[in-house]
Amino acid sequence: MLITLFNAVLILLITWLAYLYFDLREKAMPARERYSQLLGGVSSIVDRLEGYDKAHSSEIAGLSLILGRASGMNDEQLQSLNAAAMLHDVGELLLPRSIMKSNKRLEGDDLELLRTHTLLGELHLKSQIDGLDEVPSLIRWHHERWDGLGYPDNLKGEEIPLAARVLALADAISAMNAQRSYRSRQFVRTDDIVAEVKRLSGMQFDPQLVKNWLAIGNPFEYKPK
Ligand SMILES: [Fe+2]
Ligand SMILES: [Fe+2]
Repeated sequence: MLITLFNAVLILLITWLAYLYFDLREKAMPARERYSQLLGGVSSIVDRLEGYDKAHSSEIAGLSLILGRASGMNDEQLQSLNAAAMLHDVGELLLPRSIMKSNKRLEGDDLELLRTHTLLGELHLKSQIDGLDEVPSLIRWHHERWDGLGYPDNLKGEEIPLAARVLALADAISAMNAQRSYRSRQFVRTDDIVAEVKRLSGMQFDPQLVKNWLAIGNPFEYKPK
């Protein structure tokens, strides 16, 4: 069965938290912090399910905001970028536990199934919550690549919205710098991460965004917001 009881409970929880988040925003409560806390609650469930050794989603949000600002995004765009970063892998909650609990790198059908988290996240948020603007689309495209070899739509270059390109870069940097249940840390030295990001510039990543990232004083010191 694709959706187990555990998944169903998680989905309900996520939906409720997300509803609360946007309801609070509507009522304009002094609530930037409250929104972040609610989003943080949802994202911590996803991070845990993904087997990260740290707060991956909020780290991506912190880096995305710095990169987004450095790339000329306005406050409204940054707000959507932040929500998309915190919820980017929410679709994984809809996948079978066996996929998410696997302690080895996935291949074949299992990998294809894992990749549907982009579409599941988009569809679930769209169907449950109004007023999310472009957040579901950003979630759909957070694994697209600059060279067109990403998924799910093989978008290429500037066909991919800027915010989704930012998310993709921040997601990859955070993942390179983390340990997961199925593998140890990919790169131990930050210099090696910088070298890898440079190597993938123009292939996986938007080269201008890589330049913007390198221009940040210390690219590994960003605080989640
Ligand atoms: Fe993802
Ligand atoms: Fe991620």
